[in-house]
Amino acid sequence: MTNKTLDSILLEGRVFPPPAAFTARARIRPADHERLLAEAQRDHEGFWGRLARETLAWHKPFTVTLDGADAPNFRWFTDGEINAAYNCLDVHLKERPDKTAIIFESEPGEVRALSYRELAAQVCRLANALKADGIGAGDRVVIYMPMVPEAVIAMLACARIGAVHSVVFGGFSAHSLRNRIEDAGARVLITADGSHRAGKLVELKAAADEALAQGCASVGKLIVLRHAGNRVDMRPGRDVWWSDAVAGQPDHCAPVFVPSEHPLFLLYTSGSTGRPKGIQHATAGFLLGAKLTTLWAFDLRDDDVFWCTADIGWVTGHTYVTYGPLAAGATVVMYEGAPVHPDAGRFWDICQRHGVTIFYTAPTAIRALMKHGEDIPARYDLSKIRLLGSVGEPINPEAWIWYQHNIGRGRCPIVDTWWQTETGATLIAPLPGVVPTKPGSCTLPLPGIDAAIVDDDGNEVTDPNRGGFLVIRKPWPSMLRTIWGDNARYLSTYWARFGNRYYVAGDTAHRDRDGYFWVMGRADDVLKVSGHRLGTAEIESAFVANPRVAEAAVVGRPHEIKGEAIFAYVVMKGARPTGAQAGALAAELREWVARELGAIARPDDIRFADNLPKTRSGKIMRRLLRAIARGEAITEDVSTLENPAILEQLRGEG
Ligand code: WT7
Repeated sequence: MTNKTLDSILLEGRVFPPPAAFTARARIRPADHERLLAEAQRDHEGFWGRLARETLAWHKPFTVTLDGADAPNFRWFTDGEINAAYNCLDVHLKERPDKTAIIFESEPGEVRALSYRELAAQVCRLANALKADGIGAGDRVVIYMPMVPEAVIAMLACARIGAVHSVVFGGFSAHSLRNRIEDAGARVLITADGSHRAGKLVELKAAADEALAQGCASVGKLIVLRHAGNRVDMRPGRDVWWSDAVAGQPDHCAPVFVPSEHPLFLLYTSGSTGRPKGIQHATAGFLLGAKLTTLWAFDLRDDDVFWCTADIGWVTGHTYVTYGPLAAGATVVMYEGAPVHPDAGRFWDICQRHGVTIFYTAPTAIRALMKHGEDIPARYDLSKIRLLGSVGEPINPEAWIWYQHNIGRGRCPIVDTWWQTETGATLIAPLPGVVPTKPGSCTLPLPGIDAAIVDDDGNEVTDPNRGGFLVIRKPWPSMLRTIWGDNARYLSTYWARFGNRYYVAGDTAHRDRDGYFWVMGRADDVLKVSGHRLGTAEIESAFVANPRVAEAAVVGRPHEIKGEAIFAYVVMKGARPTGAQAGALAAELREWVARELGAIARPDDIRFADNLPKTRSGKIMRRLLRAIARGEAITEDVSTLENPAILEQLRGEG
């Protein structure tokens, strides 16, 4: 984080109390909040046990709340049995079968609505089709889909029969898809012909074919949804149209009740090595976190229209498009396309037409829309919106204020939710009817969450405004259980740093005088580019997969809209390209990396060098590279550099 952002945060003194009218009707009011905090403080385990009993529908009640015998591989509600799809569908069918579950809008403008009854029927038909293919509890199914209702249907169909889904974001490349399929050993891949994005067609089926052609021996079946209408090749025996797969399948399918700890899904995310990790979540604990935080942080009510703009390829789409709101019986909006298509009013147009009451998006989207001016949102009736949310990266105070003024019209609380793929659900966020907000701060931990800032030695930092590592000191139900196939990596990544005492989030943060958390950024080699998590090592290995590249080092630099941009230093085999040749080669390498990993990883800047600055032990001096990428002064000791002249070259002056 730069000094400039730190200053702006420290100077950010504004405080916005929750609007009185909001508090008056809120699910959680100040007295409830205090009661919850006191209860969790008194009896952490009992607190979560009570909430699990009251919040979820159990097939078999649990008697063991928390099992720490193999800590930090914690288990929750171990002897209970439950089904996540049952909790998202069946529980609503008696009272309100005709309530709208999903309002879908495609990028070209098709609108479809599904009631809970219709959603349940479609989930059951696909679940039966999967069963007919021999898929059962514990089998992995990869979902590589556009943002369409069928993506949610596919997730719930897996959950219905105890299969473990692994959603791969539709923007990832064939290569990334293949790695994820192979790591999970998936038996089925569910995709679509294509998807609409920013007026263009994304050929998902073609990418799926490419992934399967490169390996993926475990996959026996490819189910293809007809959506965009583009031509695709269907391979007989392996490929089947979704409509054919579900044809004749009954719209009832008995849920397979699984033990609480049965994996509900894997979701791959980037870490500090080149290999993405399959974050594994457990059925009951995840569902509890998803549903409870939807009710608490978003104050969800029966008449709300809830729009979380995240793609189901990210955890936000799992927790706040699928499981949280559906378990809570909400009406959710799903939109397939880009926020600026056909123009920068699209989000507000959708809010207006579908009567969105809760709107949850990422700072990068807010900043992008901000650039188009406030007269665009001013054209729309946003009077139904009563709460705004933010997620994915720290929100800069300027964007926060713009959001509050131009979208919330000064009326709506802003809920800045801090969490991670690993945490499963929001851990730090203001309860909207209770906690005063400060632009740029995710405020205070939710009840039952023991978050703290610690120094290098693991001691709590109490001095306001001194930074440290963000840690969680007690287990919570929606925490990840392990990394698929690599428990050693689970232990070393999240627990080893402070001797297994705390969950280490990988973020740096500080707390102010009021105990508010201010997240500063990542402490590891993970970038947040447009809110998407990318490992620098992953991008570097994509570079060196190019036969002409000798070496690459990737760092982040601040970017006005994306938050962070990808800055790569590249050493080619042979002579360093210069002039027009360098320009052409940089363009070629940007496309190369985008093809290897997906368009979200397309590097912003590429600078060629003869070599990279390294310490005597051969470690790349990343801090130096970061300073250069940010145009900052170098404060490091560079006397150990082999070739100090390289600095000029790295600065682009050589
Ligand atoms: C990382 C997790 C949480 C779902 C989407 C991202 C950053 C996330 C905030 C926030 C500051 C935030 C952190 C975290 N982050 N939310 N409200 N304020 N930073 O999930 O891809 O697993 O990324 O996103 O750095 O560690 P993810």
